[in-house]
Amino acid sequence: MLCTHELKELKKEFMKPIKVGLLGIGVVGGGTYEVLRRNQEEITRRAGRGIQIAMVADRNIERAKEITRGECEVVGDADLLVNNPDIDIVIELIGGYGVAKDLVLKAIANGKHVVTANKALLAVHGNEIFKAAQEKGVIVAFEAAVAGGIPIIKALREGLTANRIQWIAGIINGTTNFILSEMRDKGLDFDVVLKEAQRLGYAEADPTFDIEGVDAAHKATIMSAIAFGIPVQFDKAYVEGITKLEAADIRYAEQLGYRIKLLGITKRMPNGIELRVHPTLIPEKRLIANVEGAMNAVVVQGDAVGSTLYYGKGAGAEPTASAVIADLVDITRLANADPEHRVPYLAFQPDAMENTPVLPMTEVTTSYYLRMHVMDQPGVLADVARILADATISIDAMIQREPEEGESRTDIIMLTHQTQEKNMLAAIEKINALPTVLGEVTKIRLEELT
Ligand code: HSE
Repeated sequence: MLCTHELKELKKEFMKPIKVGLLGIGVVGGGTYEVLRRNQEEITRRAGRGIQIAMVADRNIERAKEITRGECEVVGDADLLVNNPDIDIVIELIGGYGVAKDLVLKAIANGKHVVTANKALLAVHGNEIFKAAQEKGVIVAFEAAVAGGIPIIKALREGLTANRIQWIAGIINGTTNFILSEMRDKGLDFDVVLKEAQRLGYAEADPTFDIEGVDAAHKATIMSAIAFGIPVQFDKAYVEGITKLEAADIRYAEQLGYRIKLLGITKRMPNGIELRVHPTLIPEKRLIANVEGAMNAVVVQGDAVGSTLYYGKGAGAEPTASAVIADLVDITRLANADPEHRVPYLAFQPDAMENTPVLPMTEVTTSYYLRMHVMDQPGVLADVARILADATISIDAMIQREPEEGESRTDIIMLTHQTQEKNMLAAIEKINALPTVLGEVTKIRLEELT
């Protein structure tokens, strides 16, 4: 039993600012520093005590000193920060799987709570990191890792906790959404828009992770684990980017009442979990179909709540800082709570996780958009329709491009009802083999999102 004096001392100790170490003060780190400073008073009123960035580690010491204006210690050696006994929380904003992983594990081993925006790290090594954190009784928080400033992790893990989540579909990569919006607006091809996006700073000099769908797959992997109570399994995700999309498909999709978006999708099916990223036709009347430019949006379908939509900035200094600081406040409130009473890292209690399989892409069920370049002669359509009928694939809609004067070829565009991917692949192989079909069939998946 503590006496009144001791209780007062303990209370004073808790009222001291919690000390934070910042690994990396680039765009997001700088934003975090700035927002914390600007909104310090309100943040303290919410958190119950001050949150003080006491140390920053960055390779660029000069820049770090400029941003922090002598208010905190700046070091070049990140080990000094993760080993500093005065630091309670480490924010990791370095990115990637290498150094960041070592530093996060060291911080955890030293009993520090961790906030990270590193989706790649969590999607690939999350299970190991959460296990280490659980053993040490520390928190690993990662709101900023998925959809930047949108509080989607909080929504999935806490706000929707009553629900059996049925599916999630999200525009979770701003770079590709910007490129797709420009392609549609201006009727331009992918390569042209990518160069423009790089010139404007919307796309990185090396945009591979974004345009190949890897970044979106990292984020979808994390959401999948939280939604369904399964381990993070990036290696099981199907990943297809937007590099092969043609302006013609965006135009034809539009004629049929659809938009093409790069979606991260995860779905509960009777035989397992679907986890996939690919360009997707969605009906233009869905709100998410109208998310343009670099914005992000996520639709979550729960059995009790129905469909919910979350929209906002998925990247950038202050939007991402908003998520990082939300985690800091959560940790500040809970730092001294019994670990058993905290919200589990992945929403489900660690001993209640399930090993529901993630389905291979061939087992995924979806609808399709098919475009084929064909000879404009009798029987071509009948042959294609026969192959689809034999595969029990039902056609939902069809258009044929009006051939130019004297042209003997045309394009046929079909939308199908749902079928399994392996069924569609077999049918496409047969269609490709028809002598009247020129080149390969273009296939894009379609989701009604209802
Ligand atoms: N590169 C990402 C995007 C932001 O374009 O949305 C960080 O995940």
